Amino acid sequence: MAASASISKSIYFGTYVHSKSLTELEIRPDGVIGVDEKGVIQFLETNVKDVESLKSRREEWKDAKVVKIKGEGFFFPGFIDTHTHAPQHPNTGLFGKTTLLDWLQTYTFPMESSLGSLSKAQRVYSNFVSRTLSHGTTACAYYATIHVLSTNLLADICLKRGQRALVGRVCMNSNLSPEYYRDMSIESSIADSRASIDYIRSIDPSGEIVLPIITPRFAPSCTAHCLTALGDLATETGAHIQTHISENTSECELVKKLFPDSKSYTDVYETHHLLRPKTILAHAVHLSAEERALIKAREAKISHCPASNTALTSGCCPVRTLLDEGITVGLGTDVSGGFSPSILEEVRQAIWVSRFRAMNHGDVHKLSTSEALYLATRGGAAVIGMEDKVGGFEIGKEFDAQMISLGTVAEEGNMEGKFTEGSIDLFGFEKWAEKVEKWVYGGDDRNTVAVWVRGRLVHSTSKFEG
Ligand code: GUN
Ligand code: FE
Repeated sequence: MAASASISKSIYFGTYVHSKSLTELEIRPDGVIGVDEKGVIQFLETNVKDVESLKSRREEWKDAKVVKIKGEGFFFPGFIDTHTHAPQHPNTGLFGKTTLLDWLQTYTFPMESSLGSLSKAQRVYSNFVSRTLSHGTTACAYYATIHVLSTNLLADICLKRGQRALVGRVCMNSNLSPEYYRDMSIESSIADSRASIDYIRSIDPSGEIVLPIITPRFAPSCTAHCLTALGDLATETGAHIQTHISENTSECELVKKLFPDSKSYTDVYETHHLLRPKTILAHAVHLSAEERALIKAREAKISHCPASNTALTSGCCPVRTLLDEGITVGLGTDVSGGFSPSILEEVRQAIWVSRFRAMNHGDVHKLSTSEALYLATRGGAAVIGMEDKVGGFEIGKEFDAQMISLGTVAEEGNMEGKFTEGSIDLFGFEKWAEKVEKWVYGGDDRNTVAVWVRGRLVHSTSKFEG
């Protein structure tokens, strides 16, 4: 369905769950969320047993469509993926024992360079957007490739499918990038970035669904002059910025060598005016206290990518420290450094990595399930600058949501109704909080039976009755 198609006034009827704060998950049994024709939440109620009596109380909603959860389940805010690489999806699971710098040369650059083919880009990007939507991702910050037309195609696909997206043409002009996959000059790097920004703004002038994002790949990929020009482009266009920072120790050493006059990796971005409130920095594993203070002062945001950090043995990002210092953090799948397009998987990975950190640095570093779910929703919304619009259920927010079904008991030999291991409350004594915990640890895209962006259905499975 085209993203511009109109929607009907709808009442979403069933338990809803969302983060109230970093530590508090709010569970509202028998909830009702009233969403208008623009996809904006107009009212919320709880403990509603009968939607007809609600309609009789709310005259102007008497003709509204009712979307009810079948069986056991709940509404949850759409997930926000603050960092991923659409062109790397075909490489998912390929990293062997490489670490960042040889992984880029071995797997990543050859795959990305091949996406200059528009027919290949069409296949890869439409499949990837389908996959992220099916995992409940309603907003995503995408890296494309250096190719303008393929990047624009990714934005077209997101707009058509109705997924909120920040879409970035990758800039990489330094001669550390392979000759076969590199911007050939600073001028072409800037002109191509500008062309993509202009195109994305032309297809969605309101910026409600797709937005451009300036994307210097990372400091080693760009010359100082190119970074300066990209900083200027950010000032001129007001666009978001995304890049990688301090992911791997060899990369950090390389940055020191390439930018000997900079005080730190973070200072490289600072001196080129790339550290701003609209900047998303992925990884941030090895930052010093001074670097974190600078990021906080500039109000730049961090995308935590735990699956990728483990796969490429980059390190354990000190998320508790970042949060305690007041830095805004969200989660990123970082496909294909990360092996899954699922933010629910990143929630688990964030929790796991926090436990490894706790083993050496103390229990305070453990993230709770509620905290990880916050990062996946409200945290991510703040990272992409949409905290006023999405990330939770409140009057005035837009309805970006997923319907989670906890499934039914599988009959012997028939897996049709079966969703996830142990997710079913066989004996009827689980509390709601326990059901949510079990979804987090045992759930996957089979549980995500329907997904909405601004009240528009953007994905559903055969389990959904709309
Ligand atoms: N640093 C520079 N490019 C990349 C990339 O594609 N993935 C990851 N994980 N780190 C990077
Ligand atoms: Fe990345």
